[in-house]
Amino acid sequence: MQESSFGALVAALRGRSGRGRRRASSRSARIRRVLARPLSHSYIETVITVKNRVTEMLGVQYPIVQAPMGWIARAQLASAVSDAGALGIIETSSGQFDAIRGEIAQMRERTTKPWGVNIAQMFVRDVSEVVDFVAEQGVTFVTTSAGDPTKLTEKLKALGMTVFHVVPSLRAAQKAADAGVDGLVVEGNEGGGFKSSTGASTMVLLPLVATKIDLPLIAAGGICDGRSMAAAFALGAEGVQMGTQMVAAQESPVHENWKNLICASKETDTYLLNQQSSPAFRALKTPLAERHRNEGTVSLAYGKPEDMYYGGDFEAMLALGGQVAGRIETIRPVRDIIESTMTEFVSTMRALSERV
Ligand SMILES: Cc1cc2nc3c(=O)[nH]c(=O)nc-3n(C[C@H](O)[C@H](O)[C@H](O)COP(=O)(O)O)c2cc1C
Repeated sequence: MQESSFGALVAALRGRSGRGRRRASSRSARIRRVLARPLSHSYIETVITVKNRVTEMLGVQYPIVQAPMGWIARAQLASAVSDAGALGIIETSSGQFDAIRGEIAQMRERTTKPWGVNIAQMFVRDVSEVVDFVAEQGVTFVTTSAGDPTKLTEKLKALGMTVFHVVPSLRAAQKAADAGVDGLVVEGNEGGGFKSSTGASTMVLLPLVATKIDLPLIAAGGICDGRSMAAAFALGAEGVQMGTQMVAAQESPVHENWKNLICASKETDTYLLNQQSSPAFRALKTPLAERHRNEGTVSLAYGKPEDMYYGGDFEAMLALGGQVAGRIETIRPVRDIIESTMTEFVSTMRALSERV
């Protein structure tokens, strides 16, 4: 794990020096020299290749995953993420399989880079239909979420897929590890979307899981840049997943109203709703969310979801989003988000090493 945290820095040095692999004994001197140099986006793009369990399993340059999100995690966004060196994910939680089939066909046209699919078990009518669908599409990387990992893991792995399960607690992480998953997406409660009403934050959950379970971990919840990515690596992750940040990306298909709301939100502008029923979910503060914030049971949609997602009508549905909205100020292209994250990740590691 410690080895992989420094993989980016070591790879950076190898690329810059052009002399290939060197002896481990000179590693710290080399890392110090790389860290002493000024960093720019183009520098990161050309020389950083992070090598750890997550990048190896996902086949990506950067250990950054775009979160699966119903109606949002489709080809326009996911292909931009994959093309930028991270991992795009296609959603199935909307249940619109005909549309998703088309999105997957588009992924093949838009990018040659790796990408994956999420199966949000609670939200799909017929789970085995989705498994067959995903297998038919030749998908090799799947995240499973919102359901029992023992139901799908064996089947998906028998079909040759790499499987990461999304977990909100240590207990769930242990169950997924016992079910034989290849890795975990460890999701803190500050994140946007469906949550446990009593879930712990990334700061507590991630190191807890990292110290008990030896599987590659992708951290989710509260991550939007290199500073938060470095924090996740310090807590035990080898990769990060971004949800709210990607909703606000230029290539995200949602209406500008939603992107602008994220950029205008403070860190205190989310509510954990539906806490008396399962699952709870974290949504941005809108007039609709305000009216329902004190109710134990809250519906997610009050009209057609598409009217909110693509029409920007905040009365049609609650707008899912995480506390990290308070750290997102502008709508930016995906490539800029990914490259600035990697640049800041490395410079944050440098700053940390200077503080001790
Ligand atoms: C609008 C929205 C929709 C989401 N839909 C899903 C989903 O379909 N499946 C899933 O596993 N997670 C879903 N999530 C959770 C994300 O995958 C991700 O883990 C979370 O957003 C991370 O926290 P962050 O928002 O602080 O980045 C959703 C999140 C958001 C904001």
